[in-house]
Amino acid sequence: MATVISFAMQKGGAGKTTTVKNTMVELAKLNKKVLGIDIDAQGSLTIGCTNAIALSKAKSATMSDIFLNGAKLSDIIIPIEENIDIAPALISLANVDLSLASQIAREHFLRRALTEVKDDYDFILIDCPPSLSLLTVNALTASDFVVYVVQLEYFAFEGLIQLEKTVAQVQGINENLKVLGIIETMSDRTNHTSDISDSLTNYNSLGKIDRATDVRDAIMNKQAISQYIPGHKVANQYEQFAKNMIAAVELAKEVNI
Ligand SMILES: Nc1ncnc2c1ncn2[C@@H]1O[C@H](COP(=O)(O)OP(=O)(O)O)[C@@H](O)[C@H]1O
Ligand SMILES: [Mg+2]
Repeated sequence: MATVISFAMQKGGAGKTTTVKNTMVELAKLNKKVLGIDIDAQGSLTIGCTNAIALSKAKSATMSDIFLNGAKLSDIIIPIEENIDIAPALISLANVDLSLASQIAREHFLRRALTEVKDDYDFILIDCPPSLSLLTVNALTASDFVVYVVQLEYFAFEGLIQLEKTVAQVQGINENLKVLGIIETMSDRTNHTSDISDSLTNYNSLGKIDRATDVRDAIMNKQAISQYIPGHKVANQYEQFAKNMIAAVELAKEVNI
């Protein structure tokens, strides 16, 4: 049965999509079967994973059909590479929040859809949108864990505090939801980013990722950094993050038994 993990921060540009993409590839290398779920109307994870042929197939049904038209995940999932599938999103997802607002059990659409495919994967990673919208709430309601994606910059704390409030609210309807930890992104080894990093000691850091333009170039090339430039320092950092994440999941499950 898959462990479901949301990657969340209600701010664009924090590194959520890049982290999901790179973590999927690292987990796949460890022989884990992974499903990535794109619930951002920007479709960045989808674009960062698929070629034109796969995308044209994706256009026939996507995540918005899960929320709006009763589609099943098996109708929309596309295989990307060995051990990696994705549930794609396109701009059509932009209408979902408004439509969901008036639905009964509006927080539970994604959780219900996931039951169909949970046995097919080891990990399901959800790439959240840059808002605390009903889509993010659906992701958290469907998840066992949330990882906070924290860009090392001045406003990091404010984002974290708001997100924690939302997580606490969702824990009211999903008592299984636990905070796995944070991933610190865009570290540039200046005093500024190390000061911010030092101030996050109350959070369980699962990894720190350097800022490097190769990382952006890799995803534009539809690759993880470890595929684009094997041995790159950020590739090693994402590998370590994936391992720490697995260890944290195992620890949390042991504690629960
Ligand atoms: N480690 C990194 N170094 C340099 N650029 C990065 C890094 N991680 C992400 N980026 C770039 O920063 C931008 C925002 O990242 P993204 O993962 O899309 O954030 P989010 O999904 O939170 O909006 C993208 O252009 C991405 O390519
Ligand atoms: Mg994104």
